[in-house]
Amino acid sequence: MRKTILISGASKGIGLATAERFFREDNDVTDYVLLARKSDDFAEAEKELLADNPFGKKVFCYEIDLNDRDAIGQLMPKIIEKHGNIEFLVNNAGYTAPDPIHEIDFGDFERTIGVNLYAPFLIVQHLLHLGNTFEYIVNVASTAGITGRSGWLTYSSSKAALIAMSQVLKEELAIYGTRVITISPGRCATALRRKLAPDEDPTTIMQPEDVADAIRMLTSPVGRYVDSENLVVRL
Ligand SMILES: NC(=O)c1ccc[n+]([C@@H]2O[C@H](COP(=O)([O-])OP(=O)(O)OC[C@H]3O[C@@H](n4cnc5c(N)ncnc54)[C@H](OP(=O)(O)O)[C@@H]3O)[C@@H](O)[C@H]2O)c1
Repeated sequence: MRKTILISGASKGIGLATAERFFREDNDVTDYVLLARKSDDFAEAEKELLADNPFGKKVFCYEIDLNDRDAIGQLMPKIIEKHGNIEFLVNNAGYTAPDPIHEIDFGDFERTIGVNLYAPFLIVQHLLHLGNTFEYIVNVASTAGITGRSGWLTYSSSKAALIAMSQVLKEELAIYGTRVITISPGRCATALRRKLAPDEDPTTIMQPEDVADAIRMLTSPVGRYVDSENLVVRL
């Protein structure tokens, strides 16, 4: 049976590595619905996936700014109409612009919450309203949501709220047989991490593929035996 995965923030970093991890494996996930804003990275990501497609899978890229609530509301019915049920959802897109408290721009705080918290909520709620049944939902939070760090107020707050929201989703959606998996990665070498720690040597920390492997394990049958309410993944 054909199954569909929707991955947000799949143009690069952990989202793209996760798409690749599932895509290159012989499994029942045949259709890949990928979300990100329009960019060269996103176009390149699609090309990269299709260049090595041993199992003849399908990729569908949708350009969307996940801070735009109306756009999410308009896109979800189109996705359901085209792809039918979305069995697997990975809420991975994330945004940060670290600043000390005195310099935080409120609009930027709203954008951080918009992308990191409201977007995962809206994707889930719209799809539920459209009658979608998820087998699992993976929410990518952060260790920054467990321990706040100086300069990361907006990001840490958004991720702490995502962790709390995921706990509620886990309880409420259990009756539908949906597994809600939440991971909190630590330092991982991506563009987002470079913004948070510009002076760090990226070769000394986790790579996106490591986080993708952890997501793959958690979504596999053995993942059922791992406590994934908020699993910390770090080096
Ligand atoms: N890297 C780390 O150390 C680390 C640690 C803990 C948690 N995380 C989390 O891991 C997730 C993936 O981040 P990453 O580290 O892989 O960073 P990344 O390489 O910068 O990727 C972020 C992804 O989110 C997408 N995104 C950001 N803003 C968006 C918007 N407004 N609309 C649509 N898509 C948007 C980006 O797409 P475009 O910009 O191309 O639109 C990109 O695909 C995030 O939730 C992040 O918070 C990362």
